[in-house]
Amino acid sequence: MARVLSCIQPTGEVHLGNYLGALRNWVGGQHENDVFHGIVDLHALTVTETPNVLGENTLSLAAMLFAVGLDPDVATVFVQSHLPQHSQLAWIMECTVSYGELSRMTQFKDKAARREADFVSAGLFTYPALQAADILLYDAHEVPVGDDQRQHIEITRDIAIRFNHRFGDTFVLPKAVTPKAGARVMDLQNPDNKMSKSTSGDSGIVYLLDEPAAIERKFKRAVTDSGSDVVYDRANKPGVANLLEILAAATNTTPEAAAAQFSQYGALKAATGAAVVEMLAPIRSRYHELMNDRGELARLVRRGDDRAEQVAAATLARAHAAIGMLPR
Ligand code: TRP
Repeated sequence: MARVLSCIQPTGEVHLGNYLGALRNWVGGQHENDVFHGIVDLHALTVTETPNVLGENTLSLAAMLFAVGLDPDVATVFVQSHLPQHSQLAWIMECTVSYGELSRMTQFKDKAARREADFVSAGLFTYPALQAADILLYDAHEVPVGDDQRQHIEITRDIAIRFNHRFGDTFVLPKAVTPKAGARVMDLQNPDNKMSKSTSGDSGIVYLLDEPAAIERKFKRAVTDSGSDVVYDRANKPGVANLLEILAAATNTTPEAAAAQFSQYGALKAATGAAVVEMLAPIRSRYHELMNDRGELARLVRRGDDRAEQVAAATLARAHAAIGMLPR
């Protein structure tokens, strides 16, 4: 079994794009691999300035991960800040990566440019070192990531190779893998763009916790294309194609087969809304059950934390020993 690590930041509500694009694959993968899923609140701290939101977002995301179907008996779901090893190894990573390498990270350049008028923290700059610590602590063989994260896995490999060369073989070299194709969900109001909270307003985004009536409304108002035929054609009919892909993902069929069932946009929109409501109903109810039973939720998180810490503590000890730091 391969050790697989993927992490998610607790910044904002989980939407349909997150679910169909990634989380549903996490659930499917938990029986094939030894999976670790970190809620990386320290990474979110690079852009968090408001008090009393990060903890609640972290807990809510944990409830959501269990609600979508991660099984605490097989998947290790943990909170990054609960394990001091992440911060401890991150410093060592910072001393193993160069200023030049960090300066070349495209995500840093983009984020720093977008935040020009805001506070650009040093943490935003050293972010990849913390991410390298996340990955290397778990001896992860595979890290499933989208294209925007590939550079972060590459730099992690470079750091691991450099450390192993300096101090002796310590870290497993991770590999970026392309996640099993999930649905690529586009914004309902702007189907040329990915569904993403950073680029659009709420009317184009379906949140997993939206009320059923709101979900149906969003689909009813979804932007479609000129013409009136329901055919699956991503290039020429992106709005309709998006609805068909969502419907297919929600009902386990193909977009082509879904298209054959409809002759009008209106019926397609209504059916897609209804299918999404039905798919999300058990997730919503499990989520609220857990959020209303904080003791149980805390117990599930602690189990993941404990299991993660066993691995992380052993790896950190190995790194300290390899460097030859003075044991206390
Ligand atoms: N940087 C990742 C993102 O923004 C989140 C992340 C942090 C991560 N640590 C990780 C992803 C380790 C994979 C492995 O999506």
